[in-house]
Amino acid sequence: MKDRLNFKSENYLLFFKRLKTNIVMVEFIEAIRRRQKIAMDYFFETAPEYIQPEIPLREAALHYPKHGGKGFRPAILMLTCGAVGGDENLAIPAAAAVEALHVSSLIHDDIMDNDDTRRGIEAVWKKWDDSIAILAGDVLVGFAFRLIAKLPKISDQLKNNLLSGLALKYTELCHGQMLDIDFTRTSIDELTIEKVTEMQYLKTGVLFEFCCVAGAKIGLNKEQHEYIEVIRSYAKNAGTAFQIQDDVLGLVADSETMGKPRYSDIKEGKRTIIALHAFQQASDAEKKVLSDFFGNPKSTDNDCLKVMEVFKSTKSIEFAVAKAIEMAQNAIDVISVLPENENKKILLDFAKQMVERSS
Ligand code: IPE
Ligand code: IPE
Ligand code: MG
Ligand code: MG
Repeated sequence: MKDRLNFKSENYLLFFKRLKTNIVMVEFIEAIRRRQKIAMDYFFETAPEYIQPEIPLREAALHYPKHGGKGFRPAILMLTCGAVGGDENLAIPAAAAVEALHVSSLIHDDIMDNDDTRRGIEAVWKKWDDSIAILAGDVLVGFAFRLIAKLPKISDQLKNNLLSGLALKYTELCHGQMLDIDFTRTSIDELTIEKVTEMQYLKTGVLFEFCCVAGAKIGLNKEQHEYIEVIRSYAKNAGTAFQIQDDVLGLVADSETMGKPRYSDIKEGKRTIIALHAFQQASDAEKKVLSDFFGNPKSTDNDCLKVMEVFKSTKSIEFAVAKAIEMAQNAIDVISVLPENENKKILLDFAKQMVERSS
């Protein structure tokens, strides 16, 4: 039972507090940071070769990478490579590539979501303007594909497979982002938890899926293997759980901790699992509060607190946390067949952290 997520969703706030002193958490963070650093060193070394300095294109493209981020995507790509017995060093260009694609999606996302800050600094579109932010995101997409093309010691066939895999997942991510926007224009009665979960998988889960599948393929030097499908299922579950938890943290964690604005999803009327559940469960009086302040960009933080009261009384945050826990547990269960090694242990911790993280 060692690998079971043994906390109740109602207790998640308490759990966050306990984590701060948790030794497993310290080891986990160290395992991620070490790989993030290796990938980002390579990223910064290579960027000047592919991203021209045309002022301020390179500066805008490197604005978020210079200010950290959790590094989950490059780290998990290297971890899955090692988990199947591969040499993690061979995966470094791919790890840098997924961070480039991720950062591109963040730069564009902040324009779409009208968010002023990211990673604790001014958003790219705010510091420069929309045109520069669009170009900075685009140049990072090109950079990501160039980095995959630089992967050493794999066959051309596998390289092509990874390039087309990344292209497929990137188009799915765009599809997910389109649904995210389209849903805010759709009557909430037409949505279901399944539709919202699928949108979250597409906008966020698919990149985690690419990371894990690419890491495993590079590690195995094969396009097909039973471990690859196991790892795909792990990543789809863990990556979608990550997005659900992100929506929770966007409500319960402060903006300094998250480095991005709190309550943005309320003001923008984002159809998260939390919001959908609240609309489904709210009394008539609570529905009035939601219709006044949810999806209203003019809502103040005080108005958002009224929406939060509805989310609390409908137990919608607990509902979303329970869903995230279920998916993280699926991720944990599915990789039980992988060989026992240090990387597998970190992958198990990783799935737990998707729902236990507080920032
Ligand atoms: C933010 O991703 C975008 C989502 C998919 C929720 P991260 O929370 O991984 O962002 P960084 O890289 O740590 O800034
Ligand atoms: C981000 O989703 C998904 C992508 C960037 C592809 P969100 O809009 O929910 O994430 P944050 O809260 O801005 O990081
Ligand atoms: Mg968004
Ligand atoms: Mg956003």
